[in-house]
Amino acid sequence: MKPDVAVVGAGYVGMPLARVFADAGKNVVLIDVDRGVVDRINRGESHIPDVPSGELKRLVDEGRVKATTDYDALRDAGAILIALPTPLSSQREPDLSILRFAAEQIAPRLRSGQLVILESTTYPGTTRECLQPILERSGLEAGKDFHLAFSPERVDPGRTDWTTHNTPKVLGGLTPACTERAAELYRGAVETVVPVSSPEAAELTKLLENIFRAVNIALVNELAQLCERMDLDVWEIVEAAETKPFGFMSFKPGPGLGGHCIPIDPFYLTWKAREYDFYTEFIELAGKVNANMPYFCRSLISQALNHGAQKSLKGSRLLVLGVSYKADIDDVRESPAQKIIMLLRKAGADVAYHDPHVPEFDGLRSVDYAPEEYDCVVIVTAHTSIDYDDLVGRAQLVVDLRNATGRNGSGNGKVWKL
Ligand SMILES: NC(=O)c1ccc[n+]([C@@H]2O[C@H](COP(=O)([O-])OP(=O)(O)OC[C@H]3O[C@@H](n4cnc5c(N)ncnc54)[C@H](O)[C@@H]3O)[C@@H](O)[C@H]2O)c1
Repeated sequence: MKPDVAVVGAGYVGMPLARVFADAGKNVVLIDVDRGVVDRINRGESHIPDVPSGELKRLVDEGRVKATTDYDALRDAGAILIALPTPLSSQREPDLSILRFAAEQIAPRLRSGQLVILESTTYPGTTRECLQPILERSGLEAGKDFHLAFSPERVDPGRTDWTTHNTPKVLGGLTPACTERAAELYRGAVETVVPVSSPEAAELTKLLENIFRAVNIALVNELAQLCERMDLDVWEIVEAAETKPFGFMSFKPGPGLGGHCIPIDPFYLTWKAREYDFYTEFIELAGKVNANMPYFCRSLISQALNHGAQKSLKGSRLLVLGVSYKADIDDVRESPAQKIIMLLRKAGADVAYHDPHVPEFDGLRSVDYAPEEYDCVVIVTAHTSIDYDDLVGRAQLVVDLRNATGRNGSGNGKVWKL
């Protein structure tokens, strides 16, 4: 099969992207360094819940999707889409080493007339300053011999109403011709394409979306901490504010940020802004408030045990319910559960966890669901498969960091809510 599209990185972004192009009739090759992932894809077994194995198997059997570890497979592709991780280093600075490594693999194989699009979330300037020079080591010139663009992926794993297919696709090319070529490719596979003036504009658009979330989550997290002092229910207040039909968008408090995006991406901009003598104070402040939430939650659990059971954290048996970073998915990257479990153990508690989606986490195995056996159950992630009324009935004490117990949890002395 001669691929129309090569997708580099077969993860949470690359897999749905491959599927959307294959569904549109294109031949897609996925390139990934993980041999295990590649073998599974070629057997039609999906490791990404957003692409069910049944769907993948059909596309693999039809010859529309295949995977390989060999970068040579992208030589014949019309378009090369890069969906690779863009993490932070331990000093919390952008770590583009994976992207650079991949670009170095692509450059010697790049051919005249190909289109390269970066999909990874990153700071404005990455496509032009980092990717372009490496690709041009091929001897080909971007915008002339090959087309280059940035188009951020907006997928929200686990979501079924908005998918890669129907979420508008923002993109910006190095030249107007690059933008047009990229737009033409996506128009064949997604419902709406939104061209912008440059790769930098597209890069910053994605960061704005994630910063908007980080800042608004911080705002309600700060309010949650004030509400605890004022003896008010922050959830009641957010729900009431939500009834305003205009000018308000609801964000929920929680035990801290999680996932591969919101805790990380804003700091890509903070780093880049310093080059311009600029300090992104909203981002820093939001980071500070959000990073404090696991500590605030630990003190809430401690208070609940003191007042609700005359017990201290030290020596108490605790069950953490839900450890993935959000409900109904298996992704544990940057999950606040990790920090909370660490803090509780440090305080001397005996901590177990139960998560129907995550069999192993942080050196622990998910235990059977028996809430009555613990001094306190802490709801960190509210998976919908759990019956929270039943939980409140069975548990001795509940600390609900997600409002999973809702109004039923209020006023019975057993449930302590964030
Ligand atoms: N997960 C999300 O919800 C989401 C949403 C929007 C944007 N993004 C962004 O998309 C990018 C990719 O994220 P993801 O969640 O898909 O990552 P991921 O970790 O799920 O997948 C990345 C894949 O790339 C592979 N890989 C690593 N190095 C490689 C290399 N040199 N060559 C080929 N393959 C390699 C890994 O084996 C893995 O399968 C990131 O920039 C992320 O910020 C993620």
